[in-house]
Amino acid sequence: MSLDSRERLIVALDLPSVPAADAMVTQLGASVQFYKIGYQLAFAGGLPFAAKLIAAGKKVFLDLKLHDIGNTVTKGVESVAQLGATFVTVHAYPQTMKAAVEGKRGSRLGILAVTVLTSYDDTDLAAAGYAKNVRELAAARAKQARDIGIDGLVCSGEEAATLRGIAGANMVLVTPGIRPADSAQGDQKRVMSPARAIAAGADYLVVGRPIVEARDPKAAADAIVAEIEQAKK
Ligand code: C5P
Repeated sequence: MSLDSRERLIVALDLPSVPAADAMVTQLGASVQFYKIGYQLAFAGGLPFAAKLIAAGKKVFLDLKLHDIGNTVTKGVESVAQLGATFVTVHAYPQTMKAAVEGKRGSRLGILAVTVLTSYDDTDLAAAGYAKNVRELAAARAKQARDIGIDGLVCSGEEAATLRGIAGANMVLVTPGIRPADSAQGDQKRVMSPARAIAAGADYLVVGRPIVEARDPKAAADAIVAEIEQAKK
């Protein structure tokens, strides 16, 4: 995949308000082209803000992890496509994924599937009624996502190589849990450096706190882009 290194960095705007997000985007300036908006900001005015970012030429990943009856997912995804978002996430249930693919038809929106939430272990899956363990369920859902025509998967750096084998070259892999060597882990348990994640097959890196909580967010973003550039060589 021949993506520009700067476009491969997605900054998670995990901030409580639109003014806080707006200030961060202004501070990051041309260093960051792609932003992720999740529950926190989306439910605090983040959707009109997403439209504003798109109008300003930025790309937006709406991390809404949709899952509902098919008709509701299709209509919701149609609205996300009209907003001009680049990516939206859905949970990797076959019915939900098919509905999302139908909803994005004719647009440039990419659907990303979350196979198994990383906060789930085998015990959590058993408690939720699943017979498969995390590894088996993630692999099964990745195959289903590929066959349904999903555009990409959200996965940890550790899963990237295995999932690349299942997904093939055409699906994008989007990887959070990225920590440059000098930053705190926060609550992330399985972290990987930007260079290693790229080498493992990630197309896009999602980075939140190492950038938005840095003393100099722009310098932190530029350093990660430089590391991505190096890793491609
Ligand atoms: O601050 P940090 O770099 O840990 O942020 C990572 C972002 O990626 C957060 O928005 C988080 O919700 C998201 N994410 C994650 N792990 C997943 C899926 C999404 O950390 N498995």
